Amino acid sequence: MKKLILPKLIAHRGASAYAPENTLAAIHTAADMDAAWVEIDVILTKDKVPVIFHDDTLERVTTADGNITDITYRELKQLDAGGWFSESFYGEPVPTLEHALDVIIDRDLGLNLEIKPFPGQEEETAEVALDILSRIWDEDDAHKLLISSFKSECLDVALHYMEGFHRGLLLAETRKDWEEVAQALQVSTINIANTPELANEFTVKAFKAKDYQVLAYTIDDLDEAEKLFEYGVDAIFSNMPDLLD
Ligand code: G3P
Ligand code: MG
Repeated sequence: MKKLILPKLIAHRGASAYAPENTLAAIHTAADMDAAWVEIDVILTKDKVPVIFHDDTLERVTTADGNITDITYRELKQLDAGGWFSESFYGEPVPTLEHALDVIIDRDLGLNLEIKPFPGQEEETAEVALDILSRIWDEDDAHKLLISSFKSECLDVALHYMEGFHRGLLLAETRKDWEEVAQALQVSTINIANTPELANEFTVKAFKAKDYQVLAYTIDDLDEAEKLFEYGVDAIFSNMPDLLD
């Protein structure tokens, strides 16, 4: 497998400090601001269309409410997912994974695809998303693709469907069995929350000692970013592609 080449900063949900998260506008803005990579979240609609969306429910970033699993893509694409952020993005839709991949490839960006299933849909979400990703992403570009998830079931599907591509294990809190899980799922990276328990020198060094690259989310403060790099963190997720400029 080609070695994973990570940038120092990955634009979290696109350039989500400057455009509505997880939209094509956020991906374009990240590229316009010279981000090398974007991170986006993928989940399934009622009719099993993989879309770029963070929450299980609609109300925070659209004008509708209810679960994402209760709406078809045809209904979802009519919704405004930009107006909550600012008037100038009014009408920005929730993109499908396929649309997002088109833009990411066209803009020559690296990608961290976070598989974020609705509870109970772990395997199905990974299977549907990776079926599309594996057909679109070129193996020659394996160095700029990272498939991540908090859910082992999703990473297990990734291991079997897209073995030749890198995986990342997301940790929101310390996990005693992390090493066993990371080994079984053959991950390349450990992606940690920026909490005192995880993002400290001791813990980062422990991950690095086992040859994992370490990524930390979500950092929008330069001093914080510099401290993490000193601990040995390889890359940060930031809503601000210009944080390190
Ligand atoms: O992948 C890093 C980060 O995005 C994980 O947390 O909730 O922002 O998707 P969340
Ligand atoms: Mg995410």
